[in-house]
Amino acid sequence: MTTTILVSGGAFAPYDVVVGRGLLKAAGAEVAALKPTRAFIVSDETVAAIHGETVRASLAAAGLATGMVTVPAGEASKSFEQLEAVLDRLLVEGLDRKSMVVALGGGVVGDLAGLAAALFMRGIDFVQVPTTLLAQVDSSVGGKTAIDTPRGKNLIGAFHQPRRVLADIEALATLPVRQVRSGWAEVLKHGLICDAAFFDWLGGEGAAGASGDPDALERAVIRSVEIKAQIVGEDEKEAGRRALLNLGHTFGHALEAELAFGDTLTHGEAVALGCAMAFRYSAQQSLCSAAEAERAEAGIRAAGLPTRLSDVDHNFAADALIARMAGDKKAEGGRLTLILARAIGDVFTDKNVDAGAVRAFLIGEGAA
Ligand SMILES: NC(=O)c1ccc[n+]([C@@H]2O[C@H](COP(=O)([O-])OP(=O)(O)OC[C@H]3O[C@@H](n4cnc5c(N)ncnc54)[C@H](O)[C@@H]3O)[C@@H](O)[C@H]2O)c1
Ligand SMILES: [Zn+2]
Repeated sequence: MTTTILVSGGAFAPYDVVVGRGLLKAAGAEVAALKPTRAFIVSDETVAAIHGETVRASLAAAGLATGMVTVPAGEASKSFEQLEAVLDRLLVEGLDRKSMVVALGGGVVGDLAGLAAALFMRGIDFVQVPTTLLAQVDSSVGGKTAIDTPRGKNLIGAFHQPRRVLADIEALATLPVRQVRSGWAEVLKHGLICDAAFFDWLGGEGAAGASGDPDALERAVIRSVEIKAQIVGEDEKEAGRRALLNLGHTFGHALEAELAFGDTLTHGEAVALGCAMAFRYSAQQSLCSAAEAERAEAGIRAAGLPTRLSDVDHNFAADALIARMAGDKKAEGGRLTLILARAIGDVFTDKNVDAGAVRAFLIGEGAA
């Protein structure tokens, strides 16, 4: 049984996100249906070792000429160096304009392979086969592709929508539980943005998904992709509704940056904490009720994710966090842009947040 979610917007060719079990094994038939001249897998070394052969064999069984290039696992592979290596390999292999790139892996592989596909011969098709929860619910949908440079993350990239996304819940069985939880944070975020009933389910009956229960995961991925697809469909590039997907990310990104993007907090953990902070700040400003902020926090905690600065082994300084939130621009007496909440499932963009009020809030949260 699979579920298909259509992603469509004015500016790009509509495509299906297929969610279910056994999709790695069915990848050959799924890709062959798109009629490429051949299919070439881009993966990372960890994922290739676990799932590479399943997908390669499936493509071959469907009659597709195929092969695979791998990059080292980890964020460092979102680099010019690895982009060049992947593109060079596609040239050496003799791919043409009708060839298909198959991105098999987490968000790192999806972003890198997607950008390579966007650039190769001015753009060829690609299929996303996301193998992390984060990639299934977030990075594989929406068409953003990118690499990092020493000057910052995701600064070089392109919009390039996939032709199809194959989200195999079984692929998540080998994912370390901390990675599952981190993806769960983005799932919770989707509930907080626009579906209170879903959020309550995630913190209650569905909570087992956060530790890998496949039935709960499947339902969570389906609803999450529906929400992201709807928002992206309304607004592929603009900062309108799509900006709501940044809930928890301005606080979260500041925390990650202060920790030098190390191992102390994963991106998802930072987003979880950032969402809890956005709700508490909203409550402090009387935009939403304190009870609502507590309910948001309880749902996040139910997944074993952090909600308080005291959950993190680091002394944060309010001024440093504000500087990060302002994008390192001078924020004194300045204004910040934050996604704030009226209630769970009802959030909005405020481009005129008083940095001084946020500073006071951060000190109340335990920052120095
Ligand atoms: N394009 C977008 O819209 C978008 C959105 C959110 C995040 N991102 C990007 O996504 C990246 C993070 O993605 P991620 O969290 O998936 O990280 P990742 O791709 O680095 O994967 C995390 C780790 O899990 C391993 N792994 C992947 N699948 C596995 C599996 N099934 N079993 C065992 N191990 C597995 C990987 O080898 C890696 O070591 C960041 O670079 C971020 O910028 C992009
Ligand atoms: Zn995120």
